[in-house]
Amino acid sequence: MLILNKTAGVFFKPSRRKIYEFLGGFHFHPGKLFLHKLVLGIETSCDDTAAAVVDEAGNVLGEAIHSQTEVHLKTGGIIPPVAQQLHRENIQRIVQEALSASEVSPSELSAIATTVKPGLALSLGVGLSFSLQLVDQFKKPFIPIHHMEAHALTIRLTNKVEFPFLVLLISGGHCLLALARGVSDFLLLGKSLDIAPGDMLDKVARRLCLIKHPECSTMSGGKAIEHLAKQGDRLHFDFQPPMQRAKNCDFSFSGLQHVIDKMIMQKEKEEGIEQGQILSSAADIAAAVQHTVACHVAKRTHRAILFCKQRGLLHQSNAVLVVSGGVASNLYIRKALEIVTNATQCTLLCPPPRLCTDNGVMIAWNGVERLRAGLGILHNTEGIRYEPKCPLGVDISKEVGEAAITVPRLKMKI
Ligand code: KG4
Ligand code: ZN
Repeated sequence: MLILNKTAGVFFKPSRRKIYEFLGGFHFHPGKLFLHKLVLGIETSCDDTAAAVVDEAGNVLGEAIHSQTEVHLKTGGIIPPVAQQLHRENIQRIVQEALSASEVSPSELSAIATTVKPGLALSLGVGLSFSLQLVDQFKKPFIPIHHMEAHALTIRLTNKVEFPFLVLLISGGHCLLALARGVSDFLLLGKSLDIAPGDMLDKVARRLCLIKHPECSTMSGGKAIEHLAKQGDRLHFDFQPPMQRAKNCDFSFSGLQHVIDKMIMQKEKEEGIEQGQILSSAADIAAAVQHTVACHVAKRTHRAILFCKQRGLLHQSNAVLVVSGGVASNLYIRKALEIVTNATQCTLLCPPPRLCTDNGVMIAWNGVERLRAGLGILHNTEGIRYEPKCPLGVDISKEVGEAAITVPRLKMKI
């Protein structure tokens, strides 16, 4: 067997001892019979090393995750070579833990599914290299996975949802609205023109020094904002939602972030404190920021629902909006979206928070979906590469903008 060398994509033959150590970590059950297809999913596209074994019926047999959040919080953001090194240090253990918990041996797997796009090049490379070694060692089919497709279809593991459905993906790296028409059939209705909402919330949390706040020190930026916002009054600040005159489904967060930065600077002056200390108005700012993000996301999503309804792209009687990605675990933003779905007679569905953030289960499940649909299953992995940039589906955002749908005002009383 091959295991990773120091440089991504370069392998070396490990010692016999290492091979036995790795294989020795699995429990083999000779008498066991699996009736369903079993997929091992591996995720390393950003800053979480995750793996899971999921069966065809959607049962999660075993999962494991190593989060790098705490390390990156200390350095003020993700440093790709650091993320790569941490993936290298953890991937073998995480895969082994997921397999051991599932009581499935690698030889019993139907396929190995791994995120290959989009994401950080150095991070994707670790997952892909490791997976290809397993594929080669155990002679299994390989299923390359699109990270955003996996987020989008996670809901079909937890709920009975038929295609087509509208999906809003909001995370640290992505922000998009798409119509899911099939396992690998998506129409892109809109996306962020600059940064993603999670990225913005992370930056604001950093600027507010929430890492020094005793209640938030180990939380991601978005989670820290949500936590602190509960103690604040959003009415003390008035940030305008971006792009109010653009009648499309695109998003923007960097302008808003600069406005907030300026406001924080002004408040620091007023309160006579240095940058690096926590403002007394931090909770009020967090509440106002969260509210503005929620209003912006809700408005764009409202327009996407109206566009899909106008074009007959969703089920007439049972239109579904799925919201996923790390930011979707924010309950305030979910409530804003609920106001929109109630007003448009749609059903709002969100995976449970642990399946909204990056995880191995969604990758394994996407492998199951592809296996069932017979889509993208590779028996020869020659030439397979990771792709740091990769759009989701067919981009019809221009057509959405040309429709210039006016969205009725909704009272955002959350
Ligand atoms: O999906 P995810 O784990 O990774 C990406 O693919 O980006 O999302 C991580 C992002 C981070 O920016 C984090 O601050 C944000 O999701 N996040 C939240 C919450 N929990 C995580 N944002 C708002 N509210 C939360 N509760
Ligand atoms: Zn993600």
